[in-house]
Amino acid sequence: MSTWEIKASKCSIATINPIRNIVDKVCLYIYTYINPFLFVIGAPYWTFLGHFITKLPQILTNSSTSPPSQIKRPENHALPIIDLALGDPSVFGNLQPHPSTLQAVTDAMQRPRTQGYTNSLGVPEARQAIAKFMQRDGVEYAMNDIIVASGASQAILLVMQLLCNPGDAFLIPSPGFPLYETILCHLGAIPLKYDLDSEKSWEINYSSVEALIVKAKEDGINVKGMLINNPGNPTGSNYSKEHLLELKEVLQKHKLPLIADEIYGYMLFDKQTFTPFASICDDIPVFTISGLAKQFLVPGWRIGWIAICDRGGYVKAIYQQLVSLTQVILGASTVIQHAIPDILKYVIDNSDEYYTKLNSILEKQATIITDKLSQINGLTCIQPQGAMYLMVKIDIDQFVDEIDNDSTFSQLLLTDQNCMVLPGSCFKAHNMVRIVFCAPEEKMVEFAKRIEHFCDKYRRKVE
Ligand SMILES: Cc1ncc(COP(=O)(O)O)c(C=O)c1O
Repeated sequence: MSTWEIKASKCSIATINPIRNIVDKVCLYIYTYINPFLFVIGAPYWTFLGHFITKLPQILTNSSTSPPSQIKRPENHALPIIDLALGDPSVFGNLQPHPSTLQAVTDAMQRPRTQGYTNSLGVPEARQAIAKFMQRDGVEYAMNDIIVASGASQAILLVMQLLCNPGDAFLIPSPGFPLYETILCHLGAIPLKYDLDSEKSWEINYSSVEALIVKAKEDGINVKGMLINNPGNPTGSNYSKEHLLELKEVLQKHKLPLIADEIYGYMLFDKQTFTPFASICDDIPVFTISGLAKQFLVPGWRIGWIAICDRGGYVKAIYQQLVSLTQVILGASTVIQHAIPDILKYVIDNSDEYYTKLNSILEKQATIITDKLSQINGLTCIQPQGAMYLMVKIDIDQFVDEIDNDSTFSQLLLTDQNCMVLPGSCFKAHNMVRIVFCAPEEKMVEFAKRIEHFCDKYRRKVE
């Protein structure tokens, strides 16, 4: 060939993370929005699926991520930025890891064997410690049930990779954390987005789950499993045991394994109680996802894990393939893995005190912002029950023409008040915005003032 021709692979084109596309670019002051055309040229990725070719347009409308909103950061704004967009609890410095968490890493560094490679499934002592820690969920885990990964993100990737062939479908929540869809599209699998009901504290709409399963069957598409995220991002919801028992019926009926993304487990407010799905699952295979990022306030340490609850023994036959997947890239940092036993020991020994302190800070910040925003005409808050997120509905009709959806609302809020939130459309929650309430109280108060001022300024004037 006489000329260079280097093209991005179809897999890379199909791999799009809408949150990162906004936050990374805003941070760099560079702005390019995801061209919907990419989805069109990404489409042939699915065409090697043979008999799915005819269903491609329908699959794409269901699965492709619509172009996320355009967010452009203003330069030289008179007000300092308040960024409540990123779900990173370390951003403001008010939520510091417990001293024992930091000490555990300092100590681990001094020990021999922490510089080297480790087993692809994780450092054995770390896996043992995680197994013990996860027994608080009411499940007897052994070391082999635990796989350490580079964050919950890699843990989810590993399970989806294990279960899905290209062309298979997987049920994920809508609105939901966009990485689920990113991973499925990356794998050439089909995200089937079931509805969460905003009027019912974001409970799962089981009719929509059933309808998706029936439709997939009619279309000859295999549904390989379902994912729930509890407590939820972006919803801040927490499911009751009764609601999860209904889920159990659905999974039993269709014989679907579950990924329970419980990265925000135990991060709950107002006397809410957490029901880990594995505690009620009987013989349903459950891959529980958790990690250090949120509960331990160290997302950058990149530690997540899979805890497999397999009372029916159905995962045994594919366990070796999961091991093979972990061998592609060794997951989390060895030194941090060596710190895990001490990090977890502190929380096992002082669980009530640890979560009471963390949750009371988050709840206070959540209450401040929810109370203040609830008083603003045109905004309706959906009370968070846990995690780090508040969803706010925008009554678009109350605002001037310039604000015609959640994206224009978010952009104008940033341009006008230097306040950053994520448009709900990143999560498929249209005409809503997601607010992260990790910032200290004074920042939340200042944010509320600015958004109030903004809403007053851009509210449609009654003639
Ligand atoms: C629901 C949910 N799952 C998984 C993750 C990924 O966690 P990690 O940083 O451990 O990869 C996040 C991060 O924001 C999340 O919100």
